[in-house]
Amino acid sequence: MLLDLLLASFTLANTAAALALYEPADGKVMWGGWVDSENATATGNIGVGGDSPATFNQRLGKNAAVFHMSQSIPLAISPFDQTEETVPLKLIEDTNTDAVLFLTVYPPQYVAGSWDQVTDSDLLKLAYQLGNITDPTKSSRRVMLRYAPEMNGNWFYYAQQPTRFKTEWVRMWTAVRAVTKRVAFVWSPNASNGYPFGGKQVPNAQLGPLDSNGDGTLDNNDDPYTPYWPGDQYVDWVGMSVYWKGDPATGNPPHDNSLPPSDYWTQLVEGGGKFGGNKAYPFYTTWAKGKNLPLVMSEGGSAFAISQQGTSGTLPVGVGQLKIEQAFWQGYLNPTFFATYPKAKMFINFEYEKLNEDPALPTQNGVTRDYRITNDPTVLAAFQSDIAGLGNVLQWSSKFVAGLDPLTIGGGTSDTVPKSSGSAATTTAPSGGSALPVSMTTVTTSTKSAAAQMIAAGAAAIGAALLM
Ligand SMILES: *[C@@H]1O[C@H](CO)[C@@H](O)[C@H](O)[C@H]1NC(C)=O
Ligand SMILES: *[C@@H]1O[C@H](CO)[C@@H](O)[C@H](O)[C@H]1NC(C)=O
Ligand SMILES: *[C@@H]1O[C@H](CO)[C@@H](O)[C@H](O)[C@H]1NC(C)=O
Repeated sequence: MLLDLLLASFTLANTAAALALYEPADGKVMWGGWVDSENATATGNIGVGGDSPATFNQRLGKNAAVFHMSQSIPLAISPFDQTEETVPLKLIEDTNTDAVLFLTVYPPQYVAGSWDQVTDSDLLKLAYQLGNITDPTKSSRRVMLRYAPEMNGNWFYYAQQPTRFKTEWVRMWTAVRAVTKRVAFVWSPNASNGYPFGGKQVPNAQLGPLDSNGDGTLDNNDDPYTPYWPGDQYVDWVGMSVYWKGDPATGNPPHDNSLPPSDYWTQLVEGGGKFGGNKAYPFYTTWAKGKNLPLVMSEGGSAFAISQQGTSGTLPVGVGQLKIEQAFWQGYLNPTFFATYPKAKMFINFEYEKLNEDPALPTQNGVTRDYRITNDPTVLAAFQSDIAGLGNVLQWSSKFVAGLDPLTIGGGTSDTVPKSSGSAATTTAPSGGSALPVSMTTVTTSTKSAAAQMIAAGAAAIGAALLM
């Protein structure tokens, strides 16, 4: 039984098509959520809170492949006990699966001189945290690190500073890599629809390098991505935030509860169409296909708008939540999309209901939106039915095995050389534990150590085979 598991766990990948770190095999797609495990909040951007990865899996009836969580750098201090707040890893451990921790780390979002706050000691702390989470003798979990995301927008104060961003990215990469090679680095701008989002608004913004066509103006004709590219050797995955919040033509902020077009996803990842921004800068073609890097929807979803500040009662339901959510997920969870965008390998739904205040008019016209797929029973049932129709393309997580080196669980190797030069052989994950039940039996200590030994032996054998 264990031997079967072991043998199934290791297959030699085609060396010509090297996979990035934690990239699933070609033809496989990982899906998961950013669940609202925060406490309910009563002021500011109000969220419902109280969810967890384990209850998300229970509702879904599947074990999500990945969970998104975020923390700050420098670490925030808990108002409850004054300790530093790192992500609640235990909530993922409670699923008893090997789900990936997709960790977003935000430099100060609304502090002028944001980058100046990030010290070497903060970076070392981050590196040790990730070193321990990915350490086979400790938490033994895959981590994908999305650092300073949406850096091409104008809503976070660390953004719109391309020169500083690149320097800081390399500084972060160097600090983490000095401690561990088990972290995959995700470079993740916002989709460019609406770019440059109203222009230069962030303290310390640098117009110069953003005016990529040199016409003296930062506008939609400039390249929304390239100025922030830190270099091939520093990035394992490329990511993007992709949301549908209604047709901007019908209101500001948009909240019309209309359907996203069926090719909405394609418009956003490639540009063009009514919503997609400048087609001259196709994200998928340039960064995923062009650099042979896997693409992740780092966060995204379709918004059902419930209410708006300054108005009483609920907003008109429009086409209704089911159609709004379903049209969005069907836009990327379908065989034609998979065939057209084979490097799109991971999708993370923003599983929140949340009030987003309009920064321009705080407390006046913020919209409360529900992006959740697993909350409303009708929406959930439609999602379950649609994913069942995809066969075994979706790669769910497997049962957690203590002591298993994350590097051997899924995807490519950790390179020390740029991926473009082609890495040596890689090991890839099996087709994934899609058949596993949601409630998994507890792994006993003896099972754990036996499994760990077998896997270590298997890894050594494969290592030897690779040398031949
Ligand atoms: C939620 O609130 C409790 C106190 O009621 C606190 O102990 C806990 O740390 C909070 N959790 C988060 C994620 O802020
Ligand atoms: C775990 O963290 C400690 C500091 O708390 C550090 O000394 C150690 O090197 C870390 N382990 C790994 C594998 O990164
Ligand atoms: C980022 O892009 C998405 C489109 O994918 C858009 O809906 C969203 O409003 C943008 N973010 C902000 C903060 O403007």
